[in-house]
Amino acid sequence: MQNISIKQLPSPSVVVDEEIVRRNCKKMIDRSKQLGVAIRPHMKTHKTIEIGKFQVEGLEFKKVIVSTLQEAKFYAQSGYFKDILYAIPIAPNKLEQAASIHSSIDVLHLMVDHPDHVRALVDFRVSNNAALAGKKWSVFVKIDCGYHRAGADPCSPKTLDLIASITKDNNQHFDFQGIYTHSGHSYRQQTPKEIAAIALEEATVAGQMGARIREAGLPCPIVSIGSTPSSDPAKPIDFSRYPIGTVIQIIPNHSCLTAAMFSNYQILKGITLFELT
Ligand SMILES: Cc1ncc(COP(=O)(O)O)c(C=O)c1O
Repeated sequence: MQNISIKQLPSPSVVVDEEIVRRNCKKMIDRSKQLGVAIRPHMKTHKTIEIGKFQVEGLEFKKVIVSTLQEAKFYAQSGYFKDILYAIPIAPNKLEQAASIHSSIDVLHLMVDHPDHVRALVDFRVSNNAALAGKKWSVFVKIDCGYHRAGADPCSPKTLDLIASITKDNNQHFDFQGIYTHSGHSYRQQTPKEIAAIALEEATVAGQMGARIREAGLPCPIVSIGSTPSSDPAKPIDFSRYPIGTVIQIIPNHSCLTAAMFSNYQILKGITLFELT
């Protein structure tokens, strides 16, 4: 630990105020408890074990979500995170790495949103059972709730067929977790009312889809929704404090941090700066 001034840091550097990060993590955990729902925080922005631990502090289950298999491997190797969801529909060329991570922890959940994914997973498991240490694949079906980045169409009968192909026809290869949707378009909204509308749409689309799956006689243990803005639309950014033309720096800034791949974070604790390696 060193007593150095923030001005001495090389530029660019990432500086994290530990107290603020911990407070924000606790806020999200408290919000999930208030709503009576389980929470699975995302690791992709900070990519550190330390902040990941803050995000699940005090929770019975330390479940996390990641955006690359590299991140999944990193969290799996920590020995602390044993239930990881890789949140991008799985590409067939990634199955070997996915199998290796899945067999090294309790579970690596994968996403599917097309019959080709199911076929690839089944084919891989039939010919590489040893790579999975005998485990089934654990999957969520990703649903598109209006973001249109990925996910099966919740209104299409083909989506029910997809779920049936996992839970009935190929049941011996899969542990089906349920459905998952992410309202990433909530970030584009300008007002609390617009964010609330997205949150309602997301919850309605996913809730109705879950009900339809069960009405069809199929299992749907988990219905998972969420994004940071839609988690509490009553408390969005107070735009009245920022007149038109104000430059707002959004922290965390996903794309910047993800692209820059800083190897060190400068941690600010009170007035002391020290480095996390
Ligand atoms: C698929 C998926 N789920 C969840 C999240 C987490 O959203 P947020 O960062 O708004 O909490 C993201 C973030 O981009 C995502 O891509």
